This record gives sequence, C-alpha cells and structure tokens, in this order.
Amino acid sequence: MKGTYDFGLVGLGVMGRNFILNVADNGFSAFGNDLDEEKVSALIEEGGDIQKVNASSGAKTFVDSLSTPRKIMLLVPAGKVVDAVIESLLPLLDKDDIIIDGGNSFFTDTDRREAYLADKGIHFFGAGVSGGAKGARLGPSIMPGGNREAYQHVKPIFEAVSAKYNGEPCVTYLGPKSAGNYVKMVHNGIEYGLMQLTSEIYDVLKKGGHFNNDELHQTYAQWNAGRLQSFLVQITSEIFEQEDDLGDGRLVDKILDKAKQKGTGKWTSQNAMDLGIPVPSIDIAVSMREISALKEERIKADELYDRPAVAAMDKQKLKGLAEQALYFSFIITYAQGLHQLADASKEYGYDLDISEIAKIWRAGCIIRAGLLADITEAFKADSNLPNLLLSPTFVSKVQSTVAAARELVAYAATNGIPLPGLSNSLTYFDAYTSSRLPLNLIQAQRDYFGSHTYERLDQEGTFHTEWEA
Ligand code: 6PG
Repeated sequence: MKGTYDFGLVGLGVMGRNFILNVADNGFSAFGNDLDEEKVSALIEEGGDIQKVNASSGAKTFVDSLSTPRKIMLLVPAGKVVDAVIESLLPLLDKDDIIIDGGNSFFTDTDRREAYLADKGIHFFGAGVSGGAKGARLGPSIMPGGNREAYQHVKPIFEAVSAKYNGEPCVTYLGPKSAGNYVKMVHNGIEYGLMQLTSEIYDVLKKGGHFNNDELHQTYAQWNAGRLQSFLVQITSEIFEQEDDLGDGRLVDKILDKAKQKGTGKWTSQNAMDLGIPVPSIDIAVSMREISALKEERIKADELYDRPAVAAMDKQKLKGLAEQALYFSFIITYAQGLHQLADASKEYGYDLDISEIAKIWRAGCIIRAGLLADITEAFKADSNLPNLLLSPTFVSKVQSTVAAARELVAYAATNGIPLPGLSNSLTYFDAYTSSRLPLNLIQAQRDYFGSHTYERLDQEGTFHTEWEA
C-alpha cells in the first residue's frame, strides 16, 4: 500500500517533533514514528489536523503511510541507534526510497551506510541540522550530502523548512557521500572555537575590568549590534541577564565551570590532524573543555601556585581591545575551519563550494554571524582560495585588529589570565603569515639524529650531512 504523506520522520524527541511541525507549517504533510506511544500521541495532538500531521509507533504503518519515493528523516542519537533504525525500516522500503540521517553522525559511518544502502537501491543522506530545538521548529540551517539526483525529491521540503537569509534558503546540496556530515562536523568545530573565545573574553573583562553582569550584558549586546553580530554573541549577552530561579543573583555565576561535549569538536580536531591541516583555535577549544573537566585538580593546583595580582585596565580601553580581539579571532577560527573543509573536499572527493557553505551558515545555525556574508563574498570572488587570510578583502579586517589582539594577549599573560583561544589564534596568524619559520632547525635536528635528510633553499634535491664529523 502506498500512502500519501510527503515526509516521514523517525525520532519524536524535541528536535524531531519540532522539525515535523515545521514541515507541516510549510504545506507538506508529514508522518512521525517513535517507539514511545506518548510521543506519538503528543505529536498527533500538537499537529491538530491528522491529514497534515500523523504518527505511529509501528514501523509498517509509518512506512505504508508515505508517498514514494519515500523521504524518511532520522533524528535519533548518532551511533548504533541509526543502524538499528535503518535495519528495522529496510525490509519495508522500496527501491529509490530515501533515508536522511539528520543527526551528528561521524562521517565515516555515513560513508559506510551510504554504500550499504546504495547496494540495496536505497539512497542515504547525511544531513547536518543546526540551530537547536528552536531552529528545528522555526528554520534550521541544513547541510545535506548524498546522491545528487535523489536530492531533487528532498529539495522542495528542505528549502521550505530551512532558515532564510534575505529570502535565500539556508540549505543546499553539498556533495556526495558524507559531505553533509563532514561540513556539519567542521561547523561544530568552529562552534567550539567561537564559544571558547566568547567565554575567555568574558573572563578578561571580568578580571581585568571588573565588569559586572549588567555591564557584560550591555557590552555583548552592543557588540552584537556591530561587526560581531552573531547568534553566539547575542545569546551571551542574554545569558548575563538571566536571574537565578533557585537563589539570589544571576544564574551564570552559579553554573559549574565544567564544560561537557558530545565529540564533534574533537572529531574536527582529530580529522584535521589526519589531513595535516592546522586548526589550533579549534584544538585548544577542545582542550579547554578537557581542562575544565579537571575541576578537582584545578582547585588543588590553584592552591599550590601563586598567580600575579591582576592590574586593572581602564574599562573603556579594555572593552575596545576585547571587541577587536574577538573580531580578529573569530575570523581566524572561521579561516581554519574553512581551510580544513577545502582540504577535505579534495581528499574525500566532496567537491565542496565553500562560498555556498558560508552562504547556508548565514542564518539558522549556531555559528551564524554577520561575518559570514563577507566570507561568502570572499569565496565567491575566488573559489580556490586556500585560506580566508589570503583574501584581499580580509587583509584590512585582520590588519586593523591584530594589534589589539597582541595587546590583550600580552596583558592577559602578564596578569595570569588564560586567553588560550585568542593566543592560539594570534600565534596561528603570526606563523601562517611568516615567510620564514625556524623549522629549518627542526630539519637539521632530524637529519642530525636520524639521517632524515633535508632540502635546501638554494639548490634542488635531498641532502644529508654527517653532522658529528
Ligand atoms: C547545532 C549544534 C548541535 C550540537 C550541540 C552540542 O549546530 O545545532 O552544533 O548539533 O549537538 O552544540 O554539542 P556539544 O555537546 O559537543 O557541545
């Protein structure tokens, strides 16, 4: 039996329920599926009109209710659950049906599933969905990868439900196989970097300028109205205003300083290492979450070591330096993530268009920012740009803010305030823009102790020296 519903969704948690209601709001009928009867009933009730939104706990009713080729999205936890859901659907599907994994699956898992299902005539998409629960309901940024022809069936629905930037949908076909999951992984790596930077700037404003929560709220709100306009700066400003329901004062001051992680930032760093692409602003953001988890050790270590008394800096001066440093380091973080994408595109055959990626990140996703409009233009002007720092339009943006980044890093180092994301971004910048680095010495050392050979500046070829002679 062939059904009539346009779209199917497995996993009716908050994300799934919100996504399906968004699909229905945009004129498509949708059918949900979850083993949990309560979630099924809740969705039917919320959907209102059963012709538009329906759901079942049984897989057969679900599959039979969908029009063909079936478009079934999974919003279930990444890992074994995805494989289990695929196995349960498989006997019920027809050739050319489409399964879309909307979770943060590891990209090699997506490649494996895509190949396995292609063998059975089923199209498999890995589609990153960013924007949290609110985004799923009102318009997320969607990053799909898979079979280009099959995407045409999904395209009208995704374009309708996605966030819009100046009327343009924040979704586009990105490339074959795991291109979508890979792009979402790097999105999250950049997300880690930007979050680390906004949090350490908060630290230096507090310790160096004694900003209170109202001043922090105003500062980040003001920045959000300028060139730092971004979702993360906006929510940061709002966080400082939130009162504590369970006690006096602001909630932010009561939250334990141990950051958790689900792994996507770490995957970005790990894979960047495999590719040989430096992303130190992302690496350090992952390391800082790990250092934050060592709370008990940090407390002991704090008692063992003296740290310098912080010499206060003039509030206005500090605020000005912080704004420039944050802008500088945001650019560096995007530059590193996009550099990784450009390289991964070659390595894995994704054939990514970086300007299209920056374009669909302009709204809906967690790393949306005013800067992404400029980044889109930079990669439109030169689609082979290896690194954003080589874009002529970015030279002046970076050049005009790097001095402030230096001053803030120097101030923080002297006063014992950790600014790891900013200092790593600055170091990356200084190294990437150095035509001569001291790594000639490393080559000499390698050749000295291991006869690893070296190349010369003035002659072609490979050389070895008997250094001890
Ligand atoms: C998004 C987010 C989301 C991610 C969370 C949590 O784009 O909507 O990236 O997919 O799951 O940000 O990530 P961590 O738990 O690793 O911080």
